[in-house]
Order: sequence, then C-alpha cells, then structure tokens
Amino acid sequence: MNNHTTISTEVTTDGMQQGIAAIPAERKASLLSGQNFWETEPIEELNLPAVTLADGTYGLRHQSGSHDHLAMYDSDPATCFPPGVAIGSSWDPKVAARLGSAIGKEALAQGVHIVLGPGINIKRSPLCGRNFEYYSEDPFLTGALGVAFTRGLQNEGPGVSIKHFAANNQETNRQTISADVDERTLREIYLPAFERVVTEAQPATVMASYNKINGVFAAANPWLLTGLLRDEWGFEGVVVSDWNAVTDRVESLRAGLDLEMPGGSAGHDEDVRAALRSGELQGSDLDATVARLAGLVKYIPAAPTAANYEIHHQIARELAADCAVLLKNDSQTLPLRHGTRLAVLGEFAEKLRYQGGGSAHVNATQVDQPIDAITVLAADRGVSVTYAQGFAIDGAEDLEMLDEARDAARECDVAVIFAGLDERAESEGIDRENLDLPANQVELIRAVAATAPRTVVVLSNGGVVSLEGWHDDVDAILEAFLLGQGGGHAIADILFGVTNPSGHLAESIPLRLNDHPSSLNFPGERGHVRYGEGVMVGYRYFTTFDAPVRYPFGHGLTYTTFTSSAPHVAVSANEGITVSLEVTNTGDLAGKHLVQVYVATESGPVRRPARELRGFSKVYLEPGETSTVSIDLPRRAFAYWDIQYGRWVVSPGDYRIQICQDAATVLHEEQISLVGERVFAELTMDTPLGEWFEHPQVGAEVFDALGLTGVDVSPEHLAMMSSMTMTQFIHISGLPVEAEILNRLMRDSRPA
Ligand code: BGC
Repeated sequence: MNNHTTISTEVTTDGMQQGIAAIPAERKASLLSGQNFWETEPIEELNLPAVTLADGTYGLRHQSGSHDHLAMYDSDPATCFPPGVAIGSSWDPKVAARLGSAIGKEALAQGVHIVLGPGINIKRSPLCGRNFEYYSEDPFLTGALGVAFTRGLQNEGPGVSIKHFAANNQETNRQTISADVDERTLREIYLPAFERVVTEAQPATVMASYNKINGVFAAANPWLLTGLLRDEWGFEGVVVSDWNAVTDRVESLRAGLDLEMPGGSAGHDEDVRAALRSGELQGSDLDATVARLAGLVKYIPAAPTAANYEIHHQIARELAADCAVLLKNDSQTLPLRHGTRLAVLGEFAEKLRYQGGGSAHVNATQVDQPIDAITVLAADRGVSVTYAQGFAIDGAEDLEMLDEARDAARECDVAVIFAGLDERAESEGIDRENLDLPANQVELIRAVAATAPRTVVVLSNGGVVSLEGWHDDVDAILEAFLLGQGGGHAIADILFGVTNPSGHLAESIPLRLNDHPSSLNFPGERGHVRYGEGVMVGYRYFTTFDAPVRYPFGHGLTYTTFTSSAPHVAVSANEGITVSLEVTNTGDLAGKHLVQVYVATESGPVRRPARELRGFSKVYLEPGETSTVSIDLPRRAFAYWDIQYGRWVVSPGDYRIQICQDAATVLHEEQISLVGERVFAELTMDTPLGEWFEHPQVGAEVFDALGLTGVDVSPEHLAMMSSMTMTQFIHISGLPVEAEILNRLMRDSRPA
C-alpha cells in the first residue's frame, strides 16, 4: 500500500461517496484512529495508502524507526530552523514562508505527509513552557506568520496541522485544565490566528488541543470543531486530536473530531464499534469523517524527492539572521570594531542553546557554535579572542570560573557574555515559575560589567527572561532567543556587523512578573484557569494602563537609523483603509525597517485596548534609500466582537491610525471617522430602563407608554431608575402602563 503510484487520483466525489458507503460500518470505525503512533490506517477498500504525520514547528521530528513518544530525541536528522519565538521576532512573513517551504522539502524527503506545525497559540503568560514554539502575544502578528508558514509548506506538497486549537496557553495541567474565557476574548485574541490560517491558507489539518474551554474538552467541543471551524470559517480538512487528547471517542466524533492520534492500542475504535452495535451511531454517521480522511492522500507526493541539507543549513543561518533582537546598544558598543581585544564568556558560546524541549525537539544535522564563528570573523579583523566558561550551566556557583572570567574581563576592551536558560528550564509539559536568569549567571554579568570597559550580553532563551538587576550595568544586549542550528553563525555576524540586526520583540518584556496581566490568574487552580484580563493581553494591558515595561512589544534596534513620514490614510467605500508612508534609511548601513500600524479608538460600547496592531511591513533599504510602504487594513481591523449580537461590529466614531516605533511609542497619528453601524440590543421586559431610553427605535415614546409624559422627573431621578428593568419599574411605580405600545416597541427593537 505504500507504493505511491498506486493511488487513484481518478476517484470522483460520487465514486468516493459510494465507495465509503460500501465499507462495513465496523471497519469504518477502525479508520478513525491511526494504525500506530504516526500513521493513519490505509483505506484498502479505496486503494488509499497510510498517511504519515510527524512533528515540525521549526524542523522535522520524524521517528521512522521507533513508533512511540518515548524515543523523542531519537528522530531522523533534520535541519533545526529557528523556533517560533525567533520567527515571531522576525516580524517577516517571508521568513515564515521560507521556513515552511524548507520544512516541506524535508518532509518530502523523509516521507512525511502531514507536518504537525505551526504552533500558533498566543503567549498569554511569559511563563508558558512552550512559548519557544509560539510566535507572539499578538494575534495579528501570529496569524500573518501562520498563514505564510502554511502556504510555504503546503506549496511544496505536504500538509500542515495548525495547533493547538484552542486556548492552549499553558503547560500546567494541560491535559485537564479548563481555560475559562469569555467569547469576546476568544474571538479577538485566541482565535483570530487560527481563523486567518483556515480562511486564507486552508491547512490540511487542525489539531484539537488537550485542554477544556469553559469546561468542555476542545477535542470534544462541537461549538469549536464544527460550529466555528467548519460552519463559520469553512474548514474542509481533517480535525486531528493532539496525541492522547481524546477521552470520549463517540462524543469527540459527534463534535467533529475526525482522526484520533495516536492509534494502535492507544485508540478508542472499540468504543465507536460499541456505539454502532447499540444503535447510538449509524454507519452513515461516519461517512463524512472517512471522506475527509480519504482526502488526506492528496498530501502524498507522486514520488519522494531528496532534500539538500547543506543548503538548508545555510537557510537556517539566513533565517536566524533576521530574528535576533538588539535590545540595547549604548555608545554604539556593537558592532565590534577592528582591533578589539575581545573576551568571550559563558558556556553557551561553545554549547549554544538553540532549541526547546519536548515534541518539537529536532535532531539537528549540524550546529554552528558562536565561538567558532566569532574566531573566524575575528581573525579577519585583527580582533583577539580569549574564552572562559564563566559559569556552570547547571546553576551551581563556581568561584574559580568567576575569577577566570573576571581576569579575562580585565584584559579586554569588550566582554561578550553568552547567558540564557538551560533546556531543562523550559520545555513542553512544564511552565516556568519565574522569569529569572540563574543567579550564578547574574553574578557573572555583574562582576564582568564592573570590570570590563564594555560589556555585551547575548541571551539564549525560549521564553522572555527578566533583565532586572543587571540591565543598567551592561552596554549592549542582544536577545537571540533560540535561533536554531545556524544561530551561532548568525549571532557572530550580528556582533561583527556582517548582519544588521532587524528583529523586534513579539512579546513584552515586563519589569516584574507580577506586573504581567496574566499574573493574577496563572496557571489557575482547582482545574480552572480564568482568563481574567480578558482582551488586555500583553501590550494591550501595558499600554492601556500605562504600566511600565523594560522593553515594549515591537521594540528592536539596528545599526542604522530610519525615519518615516506621516502616513496618508485613504478610506475605501466599505470602510477598509490603505495607509501609505515613506520610510528612509538615514544611516550608513543597509538594513531592514519595520513599519508597525496600530489602531486606537474609544468608540463603541466595550472597553478597547489603548492600541492594537493591525498591520506591519518589514522593508530592506540601502543607505539613503527611500521607499513607499502601503498597508491595507480591512474593515475588520476596526471591529470588536459584540457578544449580544454574536458578530463583529464596527462602531461609528473616530479611529486613530498610529505609526509606532513599538507598542509604547507613537511616531505619527492620523484620525479618521467611520460611519460603522450602531447596534442596540433587543428590548425585553428585563432590559434596564436606561437602555430603553437610549434606544433609537424607541425615543420619547417610552415615556408615553409608561405614563410619564408631562410628569416632572428630575435627571437625578431618571439616572437612579435607569438600572431598573422594565418589569421592576412597572412593579414599583404603580403608573398606568400602555402594554400595547411596549409590545410594539419590543417587536420593533428586534434585529432584522
Ligand atoms: C504535543 C503536540 C505534538 C504531539 C505529537 C503532543 O504531546 O502537544 O504538539 O504534535 O504530541 O508529538
């Protein structure tokens, strides 16, 4: 069955339907879970082979030999590209598309048909152990990168699985926790990235997450998997469970979950067969699911093709170069100058931390170490290099190492410290408890900064770390996050100015963990985590409440300077807009400039964040070059989710289009007014009087209906009554009421 040439591409939809209907019901049940850990069941009746799945948010983890989860780090060698945290910081869909395409090519070479990535969950808390796999705290940025990755990968032939759907924003109790989150927050923050990838890139599969949403398992949630995903967004592919996420197979099937993984002995096919025998399910109930599973064969190539892992290593380096974020660079400490006496300190310089732990872990084909790349570049530039280990990665205090590093710092012009988090500190399945760097590293940084003329810190970490306690002591900080197997090379290029850094933060770096909006409710208690901050996630909170951060979302420096003009804003007939502005590289080095467009408004009946990212574009400019950037914002960019109407609403009013340097710094602002639509809730006897008085279809008539016409009611009295429901008012006022008028007004208030 694995001979690719036997696949019939001639199966018509009708023919397929008849073929599926003819399969015995109990046999259909056995198709609903994989045949083992990584493969679906072949559908011999339709002459369709098994489909192979493998992990791959930033590189393949294909276990061709061992079909289980235990040999997690024993996968076939593949290129470890920059993980999600880095791709998020690139702010560049071209980077995400190249990543997708390269992983797609390796999938073709390794016989993988569905790649389990990208991970597009929102970074609700900086403590989430899988933040290294995810892109951002912002849904717009996440969605744009997710679409690019998906298109890039699926253009090569294989399919993707966007994951983990949905509201899977922590690892603590991830298999049982209920994310208790209101619908507006879901719609505006946690779902839009999934919505965009589904509607714009039709991923082959969507992976249902482990957690519950408001008490219902995502993998058994009909609202999520059918109402939203298929009926509203038009998803046509397969819904696959996260590995082991199905608890009640029949319930999941009814909710819209097609494929349970893994299968083999771990599957629940027997439960489906029992439901068929009892009559709870009919054979035909399984047909649509089997048809969708059969449809996965289109991701199997006619013939496998080889991948060039050497070229992919080069791509890994190039992608990494776009991702590192220069946070601080006082007195132009970087790039390093010719003839510098350099001290390289910290074990990560020779054993770079470049990826995260868990199911995303890639068995890299090769790894560039920073110290090697630094040595090569230094030789050409008359730079001398001394190296000292500086600290023990396991966190143990070692005074000898500290002294050695201090000695090296004394003899140098610039000390570059490679600090960061150990792989054990952050991984799938575990959330961090704090944002701290290990104490022995902080001690080293402070000791070196007090000794060396200039100190640079290069950080390697998957989730953000606190910079407090040493930030002001050092001259420059390069937040490299995790850059994949080409990271060592990319970091050296940035240090020496071969590459001009262009990454920007895709998440805020708080001053203290307790300042973060998620802190009150993370990781939850008694089986529930309450998303109490609502839509005020990440920078939305910090900017709305003017709460200081160490570095805001969107921050990132380069070695050159850019200016941008005031924007020109054109509003289209359907109230989308086009923002155009000119950006110029006013410095001496070529570089990439990030244009960030936010929308700010106070209009409408719900509290809006101070500003929200609605567009961005990264442009490459030679020194002195000017370029015009145009960014389209659809009408949706101005909408909020109205829980009473159950849809997106653009309120009439003023909207400020802000060109920002980062989420906290507005460079230019243009105001527009939108006609939008006024929405009013349907009136009932339980509607408070205040809403009756304000309703446009009601006006003064309500006073007649209540017998209040001509009665002298003071404004204070009116205000006092306004929260009383109509029923309560009638009950207490004793006034004669025109029931007929009230009934008509209620009828008229119903939405068309
Ligand atoms: C992870 C998924 C992964 C799956 C298969 C699960 O534990 O949550 O992201 O795709 O395992 O390895």
